Amino acid sequence: MKKLIDMAKDMLDRAYAPYSHYRVGSVIETSSGRVYSGCNIENTSFGLTVCAERAAIFKAISEGERAFRRIVVVSDNDSLPVPCGACLQVMSEFCNDDLEVILCSGNNNLEVYRLKDLFPKPFRLTRTE
Ligand code: THU
Repeated sequence: MKKLIDMAKDMLDRAYAPYSHYRVGSVIETSSGRVYSGCNIENTSFGLTVCAERAAIFKAISEGERAFRRIVVVSDNDSLPVPCGACLQVMSEFCNDDLEVILCSGNNNLEVYRLKDLFPKPFRLTRTE
């Protein structure tokens, strides 16, 4: 786990966060052990900002990956980088509800959750016709 956290911390240097100055790094690990990393990427039109978790997940998905074991999210801020609702919804699209979500703050406070505990009721599209 330490190696994944260190990889995610390395991504803090790639974060593009000139507006919030809140840098986030993420690494997602596939079931076969491959890893994909991401960082938050802000935009002057704030709503276009992409979170680190989604950057990592989209990188993995676009490389053809479909099965995931765990995701690490780190920040260099002392508050724990709990994933936002949009990122949790994207995780729930591609990951099992027992995905391990490992969070680490700048002061090395470490907390580990299962996706189902952070996001028990994801949106699901059900067609009635
Ligand atoms: N951010 C993430 O990268 N992940 C989250 O789950 C929540 C927020 C980023 C987006 C923005 O660049 C900065 O943190 C402040 O909201």
